[in-house]
Amino acid sequence: MVPTMGALHDGHVSLMDRARALGDHVVVSIFVNPLQFGDASDLAKYPSDLDGDLDICRRAGVDLVWAPSIDHMYPDGFATRVSVTGVSEPFEGRHRPGHFDGVATVVTKLFAVIRPDGAVFGAKDFQQVAVIKRLSADLGLPVGIDVAPTVRDHDGLALSSRNARLDPASRSRALAIPRSLTAVEKAWRSGVRHTDELETILAAELLGLDVDYASVVDPQTLSTRRDDHAPAVALVAATVGSVRLIDNTVLD
Ligand code: PAJ
Repeated sequence: MVPTMGALHDGHVSLMDRARALGDHVVVSIFVNPLQFGDASDLAKYPSDLDGDLDICRRAGVDLVWAPSIDHMYPDGFATRVSVTGVSEPFEGRHRPGHFDGVATVVTKLFAVIRPDGAVFGAKDFQQVAVIKRLSADLGLPVGIDVAPTVRDHDGLALSSRNARLDPASRSRALAIPRSLTAVEKAWRSGVRHTDELETILAAELLGLDVDYASVVDPQTLSTRRDDHAPAVALVAATVGSVRLIDNTVLD
């Protein structure tokens, strides 16, 4: 299974390709989940194109698309929330309160209805993967969680349904995000291991943007690295124009 919110792009298609390689049948869900949007205007602005999405799924050899309505997913009286503590709390959790409860709740329901053997998620949403792995392990969900690498545009910007809302000037400013990640990867390769130094390099590229966070943390716990030998992930969230973008790179 590949859970999505539609407005499909090549990042989603790479997940479908991976699912097809792993399983006999591939199900894609398309559901813009209101529970994971704190801001009603963000939800209202979320792009949607079901006909285009169905074409993309057909071309990718998807066997079944499930696009439930909001009433079907959350009928009157729906009162359950699935909440993951710990890894969900910093970063996106702090900047988008309730977001990961919405993600954990919808993913639990999607798994319960479709009952897939496995599900593929994108590394682009690093913290989301950490939350879903925790959820799956804690509840003993019988669904293998697979993670596919981030697909980028030719200029380095990670593909995102939100990119469609970037005007050309904002788009070129947004390229500071992949540039910051490339800079920190380069520093890591040349032997830089201090969290402070790595974060300084990250921040230097992001000066012109409205940054929510640009941090280097432990990829398992998403908290401070134990020491300079510990692996690391660089996590960035910034708003460009009115579009909030997230990206990351694992340093290992
Ligand atoms: P959505 O943003 O539509 O993303 C669906 C899946 O595609 C996620 O696993 C996401 O990480 C992955 N994805 C998005 N852009 C990608 C890229 N450039 N490269 C690789 N993978 C990419 O994430 C969600 O929807 C929702 O939170 C969801 C899990 C469906 C729950 O509602």
